[in-house]
Amino acid sequence: MDDPLVYLNGAMTPLSQAKVSVLDRGFIFGDGIYEVIPVYGRHMFRPEQHLQRFFKGIEAVRIANPHGKEQWLELLNRVIAAYPTEDQSAYMQITRGPARRMHAFPTSEVQPTVLIMCNPLVLPPAEAREHGAACVTMEDQRWLHCEIKSISLLGNVLAAQHAADHGANETIQFRDGALTEGSSSNVWIVKDGVLLGPPRDNLILEGIRYGLMEELCKANNIPMQTRRITREEVMSADEVLLSSAAKEVLAVVTVDAQAIGNGKPGPIYRKLYDAYQAAKRG
Ligand code: PDD
Repeated sequence: MDDPLVYLNGAMTPLSQAKVSVLDRGFIFGDGIYEVIPVYGRHMFRPEQHLQRFFKGIEAVRIANPHGKEQWLELLNRVIAAYPTEDQSAYMQITRGPARRMHAFPTSEVQPTVLIMCNPLVLPPAEAREHGAACVTMEDQRWLHCEIKSISLLGNVLAAQHAADHGANETIQFRDGALTEGSSSNVWIVKDGVLLGPPRDNLILEGIRYGLMEELCKANNIPMQTRRITREEVMSADEVLLSSAAKEVLAVVTVDAQAIGNGKPGPIYRKLYDAYQAAKRG
């Protein structure tokens, strides 16, 4: 567990010995794309959707993708098989590679840097799952291409630290009065039995759980809609939920220390949580 094998540029290597050049454009510019895939019982959950989003990001920033889908899957499974625990969080990253520092793309050919590693799957603690999470809020300070899962995450890092500074689980971000997302999760509200999420646009990363929530809502007769959501709607929601690979579905019971609904995880959360647990093992 302390020193698992990771895949780096064509070889399986102990994590402690996996090294890249300081000239790597991921290190210098944050010039790369990543994915986080939950793994249950050594099976990736929704790998096709994660890979599709990964490929879209790679294409959007014009990195030369060295592998096809099947090859990426094979590499992921190799790292997953070598990891000691059954449940994991698979992390994959590609950067534009090492090159002399200049902002524009390198003019000579560079080899992208490919890293795949597995980490422990750290799910929310039982206390948060049962009694809900606390969130704080801040203005979204990120760039305008949040739909790209870029490794340039300083805005997200600062938002996550804002939560940590306040003893909260997550920061809910707003841009010009409209809900965007958490530092590393999507945010949902429930009003009058309807699950509402922000539009799938450039202001959020469309989580793989976006499509999943849609499916789970359909299967459980929960109406769902995506549209602009105001800060007032969040504060006066019946329920607020978070979703991500690591959080799965999590109820939010306070926002900026103000109770949401009756201050307890609500019925829509319970239904979606149970449906999620069934889906991930299914
Ligand atoms: N983050 N929005 C942001 C900004 C995220 O970073 C994430 C996930 C999500 C949810 O996406 P998904 O449902 O596909 O996990 C939304 C991962 C877990 C991370 O950065 O570790």
